This record gives sequence, C-alpha cells and structure tokens, in this order.
Amino acid sequence: MNVKSIHANSSHWEANNENKALRPAAGRGGGVTSRSTRILKAPFPYFGGKSRAAELIWSRFGNVVNYVEPFFGSGAVLLGRPQPFSGPETVNDLNAYLANFWRAIQSDPEAVAYYASSPVNEVDLHARHLWLVKQAEFRERLSADPDCFDPKVAGWWVWGLCCWIGSGWCDADRYERNKNTRPNLGNAGQGVHRQLPHLGNAGQGVHRQLPHLGDAGQEIIEYFAELAQRLSRVRVCCGDWTRVLGPSVTIKHGLTAVFLDPPYSAPERAELYAHDSFSVAGEVKEWAVENGSNPLLRICVAGYEGEHEMPGDWECVKWRPRGGYDGQNRDKDNQNRERERLWFSPHCVKQELPLFAGGGI
Ligand SMILES: C[S@@+](CC[C@H](N)C(=O)[O-])C[C@H]1O[C@@H](n2cnc3c(N)ncnc32)[C@H](O)[C@@H]1O
Repeated sequence: MNVKSIHANSSHWEANNENKALRPAAGRGGGVTSRSTRILKAPFPYFGGKSRAAELIWSRFGNVVNYVEPFFGSGAVLLGRPQPFSGPETVNDLNAYLANFWRAIQSDPEAVAYYASSPVNEVDLHARHLWLVKQAEFRERLSADPDCFDPKVAGWWVWGLCCWIGSGWCDADRYERNKNTRPNLGNAGQGVHRQLPHLGNAGQGVHRQLPHLGDAGQEIIEYFAELAQRLSRVRVCCGDWTRVLGPSVTIKHGLTAVFLDPPYSAPERAELYAHDSFSVAGEVKEWAVENGSNPLLRICVAGYEGEHEMPGDWECVKWRPRGGYDGQNRDKDNQNRERERLWFSPHCVKQELPLFAGGGI
C-alpha cells in the first residue's frame, strides 16, 4: 500500500469548536479546501505541549510566508496552523529521538507504525530502552545529516514514550547517571526506582493516544500517513535552537513567524525533557528582544508569568493548557496552568483578545 496516498479521515483530529476556519489534512501549498474543522495532533503525550495555544498564536502570526519553530517537541503549533497556506516551514529540536521520529514519519510512516504497534510489555520496555539509549552514534549522525532517519528507532521511541510514566524516557545522560546507583532489592533485579510501564490502559501503548480505534493496526498506519502528508515538505532539523534562526532560514524568505517555546526557567519545576535546561529560556528572551523590532519578524515567546521582562511594545497574553500530564502532580499542575503566558513581538497582528485566552495582563 502506498501510505502517502491514504486520504485523511477524521479519527485523529482534535475537535476545534472555537475556530470555524477550514483546517484540512493536506500538506502545505495553497488551494486546499477542507472537509474538516479539526486539528491533527502528535501521537504521544508531551510535557509543555501547546495545542491549546495554537489558535491564539496563529491569530497573532497571521498570514506569514515563512514559519520557524526551533523547539518543536510535539509540534502542536505547526500542526494547528490554519490552512491553506504556502511557503517554507522549518522545525528543530535538540532531542535526536524526537527529530528522528518526525523525519521517519515524513518518509516512512508505515514502517514507523509497524515498530510502534506493540502491546505494553515491561520486559520489552526495558530492553528497548536500553537498546535506544545505546544508539549514541545514531544520535550524532542525525544532527549532522539532514536526511538521516531510522523508522525502528522512531517506532520504538514513540511506543515507549506512550508506555512510560513521567520523564526520563530515552534520556541517555540520566540513564548513565542512574544505572549504577539503582538499588537491587531482589524484585527480579528491578530496584525501587525501576520505571514501570503505563498499564492502566489495558496495555495499549501507542494505541492509547488513538481514541477511536477499530482495527488498531490499520488505524495507526492511516494516522501516521496523515501526519506524513502534513509534514511532507517541512524541514526537520536536529540541533541547538540558534542553528535555525539565522537570516537564511528566517527573513531571507520574507515575513517570518518564529515560535519560541524553550524549557521554562522556573527553578522549582521538575526535570522534564531528555534535553532540559533552566538557562536557555533567558538566552531565547535576549534573542527575541534583539530581533523583535525587525518588521520581517513576528515572534512569540512562551513562558510563565514573570519569567521574562519584555519591552513595553510586546503584548503579553494569558492562556490555559488542559489540566495535568497523565493526571500526575495535580495541585502543582493546576497552579502552573494559571501561570502560562505568551509574549508577542510588536509586528505581530494586533487583535482583541479572544474569549478563550483568559484575558490579557
Ligand atoms: C517546552 S518543549 C516544546 C513543546 C512544543 N512547543 C509542543 O507543543 O510540544 C521544549 C523543547 O525544547 C527542546 N530543547 C531543549 N533544549 C533545546 C535547545 N538548546 N535547542 C533546541 N531544542 C531544545 C526539548 O527537547 C523540548 O522538546
């Protein structure tokens, strides 16, 4: 089967009742009309995903000819982009497993679906985790070669991400740090810190992200093919965020939107990402302020209230994410939901605040 030819169906789209704009599954390029008002989503849960902010962000970016997202994560903002549009899109993430997943989905969604379609099994989870974190050479190659991808790494990575509870999946540094300090308490060598898989969904693994499955295996193939179609012409880079912010990637193409969603600098937050940092947000803010007055740039920076002191001509908008990541840490999550802010540079589109944004500050 040619998976690229599978036509988008509606089963993996998020209902979007707040915006009646047309949002088809087709990839970029003008002239596409929609049968759907729903948004395609990543097939894995991700800390800090911005799907609920995407509509607000695009209302301020408007009709740009070029889009750059240096901290791509689950890609919620790109996937929430209103269609049709034309022009380049460049995304980037320092996490090689994540960048590999998006590249593999673009080029071989059927193979990724094959490796991702396993029931949850703790023995496999740990064996695959060990195999994945040992792929140091592959991680190097991925950031050096823009065409490099591996569907097996992608499928196992996304499968494990959906099974794993909390952070730490495929965090090679954390794995190395912890491997010798883990106590062996005799429970089959697992120790108390051994990560347990998510078994609360009857062992469904990646399928739990897919709410309305009939023939589960086929649905995953079709879902990944929809993602492939949307991403077919997106450039996926793997490296530090600064690598995709030079003029050749941004303003050389004309009016450019840049969405900056670095790991937040809040010192009390937990370590969340395989590539985490509490200092990168400050550097991002510096870059944003330095470039904010360029009329060819529309910049949005995400963060917590009070995290960034922006110049007076920047707009600050409060928004609220969906509660909780897998229902963990509920009290803290609820407090943090109230702290989410987006800062928009002076050349972004000025608008009355939409009701759902929760009001400006
Ligand atoms: C807050 S998340 C982005 C979430 C994303 N907006 C979404 O909707 O899913 C931050 C991302 O930045 C990545 N990251 C951390 N440090 C980075 C760096 N120096 N350069 C590029 N990406 C980095 C992490 O791997 C993580 O995926």
